[in-house]
Amino acid sequence: MAEARQRTLLLVEPLADEQLNTVYSPILSPLAWDLGHIANFEELWLVQGVGGREPMDGELGRFYDAIENPRKTRNQLPILRGDELRTYMEGVRERTLEVLDAVALSDTRDPLLEGGFVYEMLLAHEHQHNETMLQLLQMVDGYEPVRVDASVAAEPVSEGPEMVAVEAGSYEIGAGAEGFAYDNERPRHAVELDAFEIDRTPVTNAAYAEFVSETGAEPPMYWERDGDGWVSARFGRRERLDPRHPVVHVDWHGADAFARWAGKRLPTEFEWEAAASGADRERANLDLLGFGTAAAGAYGDAAADCGAVQMLGDVWEWTSSEFAAYPGFSAFPYPEYSEVFFGETYKVLRGGAWATRRDVIRPSFRNWDLPERSQIFSGLRCVRDG
Ligand SMILES: [Fe+2]
Repeated sequence: MAEARQRTLLLVEPLADEQLNTVYSPILSPLAWDLGHIANFEELWLVQGVGGREPMDGELGRFYDAIENPRKTRNQLPILRGDELRTYMEGVRERTLEVLDAVALSDTRDPLLEGGFVYEMLLAHEHQHNETMLQLLQMVDGYEPVRVDASVAAEPVSEGPEMVAVEAGSYEIGAGAEGFAYDNERPRHAVELDAFEIDRTPVTNAAYAEFVSETGAEPPMYWERDGDGWVSARFGRRERLDPRHPVVHVDWHGADAFARWAGKRLPTEFEWEAAASGADRERANLDLLGFGTAAAGAYGDAAADCGAVQMLGDVWEWTSSEFAAYPGFSAFPYPEYSEVFFGETYKVLRGGAWATRRDVIRPSFRNWDLPERSQIFSGLRCVRDG
């Protein structure tokens, strides 16, 4: 938990208080809200929930409730700012450690404590907020990361066929009963799949640029015209777009149209998960310090069993699947985590991106978002029937 907090604070270290409280986009919270919300979630579940203590600051919890407060209204709330915010974050953490000292994680009568579930949930929550914070940080002109991992850019590119085959068969989908996973990944169940082929690497900027110029499709977010070509305008800096890198910031409609244009289609999330079998998250562009993608074809020594590379890390990959409950689903620990989002509204993304903390990702992890969203670190790879 200390490591998670260190990373959160590292991300906002270059920012002045005014920037923490600026609304950069109606679909993203000001960073001060994220920081207070991370601490408040910890207070709610651990200090109040597990520890049974009274709220530290009366009604504060209301303003940090993600469902109650739409993102565009969050800056008008009486949230904590400046020194008050820092003091609250530290105060919660102090109490959390006291509670942690006093409980038995082996208590199997309480499903929140069993196997340390509530702590894993809290860690995952802070880690996942780092990624939403990065969506916003890319909009901050002149943002300079404090620390950058240069090994990502130096990663060699592997050669291979354009597509690799996945055999027909019965595949186990979802997370098993052991270990931490979210309710929407369970229960694990068998799914019958026909044979298919999947792109060995994520779709590149070069391929996507060709699609845009041939069809007049909307370019990805942050792309700006530069003569005949394109530059990327993340962090307010115009930089040459590397044609060999995976395309990022594509919305679902763009991804779907690209796949059709290429004579292919988007994978279902089950096809994606079957193809990702054997992928290694320890050798993947995750954990956010690369501050960008590795070239398509990197991490060749960590390919999935089918031969596909970068199934984990670099870019989230859009699938054709709607976010739905697995057969036998039961909400845990609360319906607001997944259940309220099930339906036709959201599309599933898989695999994690460079901006995702490593611990968040496993092959069964399901992300979901609206099909029109492109501020997320979303790309794609295509499949066709085998
Ligand atoms: Fe949250």
